[in-house]
Amino acid sequence: MGVGEWVRPEIGAMAGYQPGEQPLPGQRVIKLNTNENPHPVPSEVLEAVREAVTAETLRRYPVPDARPAREAAARAYGLDPEQVVVGNGSDDLLTMVLRTFVGSGADVVAPAPTYSLYDTLTAIQGGTYREVPWGVGGSLLIRAIVNADPALVFVTRPNAPLGFACGLDQVAGLCRAVDAPVVLDEAYGDFAADSALPLLDDHPNLIVTRSFSKGFSLAGLRLGLGFARPEVAEQLDKVRDSYNVDALAQAGAAAALDHLDAFRPNTEAIQRERGRLTAALRERGFGVAESQANFVFARAPDGDGRPWYEALKARGILVRHFPEPEELAEGLRISVGTAEDNEALLWALDEIAGK
Ligand SMILES: Cc1ncc(COP(=O)(O)O)c(C=O)c1O
Repeated sequence: MGVGEWVRPEIGAMAGYQPGEQPLPGQRVIKLNTNENPHPVPSEVLEAVREAVTAETLRRYPVPDARPAREAAARAYGLDPEQVVVGNGSDDLLTMVLRTFVGSGADVVAPAPTYSLYDTLTAIQGGTYREVPWGVGGSLLIRAIVNADPALVFVTRPNAPLGFACGLDQVAGLCRAVDAPVVLDEAYGDFAADSALPLLDDHPNLIVTRSFSKGFSLAGLRLGLGFARPEVAEQLDKVRDSYNVDALAQAGAAAALDHLDAFRPNTEAIQRERGRLTAALRERGFGVAESQANFVFARAPDGDGRPWYEALKARGILVRHFPEPEELAEGLRISVGTAEDNEALLWALDEIAGK
């Protein structure tokens, strides 16, 4: 007997999630590969986290259900604290959703391409993950999703890794049509024109997840929010790891949510740079769709993203290349950096192209 025989067959058969490369501390690279925010967190939030670092805070367990952070989220988004669950990153919320709704043999459906962690989390539960294509112009093929008879649906809006946002009317239509919870992953929602949060009132099966890693420059603190009707949030809370959000993260969450205005200049700078980068990449022959996120997906002029990824990496610039499916292998996902980062990227692309 050995680990091969002891391990659950579902775990033995799965590959494990592959995060984007993270350089070692101190390694100097221009990092445009995992959609972190290139701007520093506002000083009010940094101060609040610093103040939380006391021997007493570190000695004690944190508030189990992160109640003060949930109250701050409720104030910030005009909801009730009973509608909010706080996670150790939004990935933690996705885990809670899977634990709550997906047992062995259940089907999970998502329009793809999308975030590959959904597949991994479904496999851990022993469920079956199925992808349906996006419709024309990034629309939802509601009938295809309903016909798959899912136990849970994931929709990434804005989409990762392509950046478009499907219509909110379609999200509402999907929620009405499908007899299952619909998780709307708004990890990039802070950069989008609108949010599905106002749909929560009318759609009891909607769950919206948001991340502090992108809009709030707090990827290192690991924070995410889940929003749902109170009766749904109550079920999610049952499967939460006890003390899932540490004391420093809770302090950071409350401070960030109480200072939403302090993030606006950073968000606006990213939205401006996103437009500039899109135009500059198009001028260079890349095919770039309009993005509502803090990254763009750029189809390479020669239809092969890999050599561009490697040549950029050799110049100390990390972007993301997905080896599959073909639609993604053709291009690069590039996080929107500071104006200087983006200039360096464009300069390197010109050099690679031999201009
Ligand atoms: C679509 C999507 N959802 C969720 C996450 C996870 O974010 P977090 O850092 O909050 O766990 C990511 C991270 O890149 C993402 O791209």
